Amino acid sequence: MEITIRKLIGGEAAPMHLLLEADPEEKAIQKYLHKSIVFLAEHQEQTAGVLVLVKRSSTSLEVMNLAVDEAFRGKGIAKKLLARAIIEGETGGYDFLEIGTGNSSLDQLALYQKCGFRMDGIISNYFLDHYDKPIYENGIPCLDMVRLKMSLT
Ligand SMILES: CC(C)(COP(=O)(O)OP(=O)(O)OC[C@H]1O[C@@H](n2cnc3c(N)ncnc32)[C@H](O)[C@@H]1OP(=O)(O)O)[C@@H](O)C(=O)NCCC(=O)NCCS
Repeated sequence: MEITIRKLIGGEAAPMHLLLEADPEEKAIQKYLHKSIVFLAEHQEQTAGVLVLVKRSSTSLEVMNLAVDEAFRGKGIAKKLLARAIIEGETGGYDFLEIGTGNSSLDQLALYQKCGFRMDGIISNYFLDHYDKPIYENGIPCLDMVRLKMSLT
């Protein structure tokens, strides 16, 4: 399956339906979307996936959102989007790429570590404090944020 990755250009709408699969509250997404670089994965002009990058500091970029359309999952598209984010960080002269996920996001924790991220810390109660509704995945309450980091140097 041919997948191309490109940056969203000014004026184009981001695929909110996909972004909401990774981050359940639109108000949380809107807080970072306006200051981000958005990558789209496309198959024959269909949006298959999205990745959102935000500058966290002068040395670090953060993946704020990553989602692949259900029909396209398991085909390596998230890995391709993460590989593109790594190139963006390297060419931009950043030292680190970071990502945060829920303690209950077991598949995502596997994916990120397969792509080279290492665990770097926990923000206790992050999801309790920042989201209105309780989140459950894999039968586990999502309470804490696991921070992962990759060195780009
Ligand atoms: C998470 C998500 C982006 C993955 O997208 P995808 O395109 O299906 O992922 P890929 O096919 O690129 O890669 C998945 C990799 O993770 C691995 N993986 C997934 N779950 C795993 C598990 N439980 N144990 C071990 N490996 C696992 C796969 O085996 C694969 O690695 P491989 O190529 O070495 O086999 C997609 O499922 C999604 O959009 N989910 C909903 C939104 C979401 O949760 N986003 C992340 C927010 S933190």
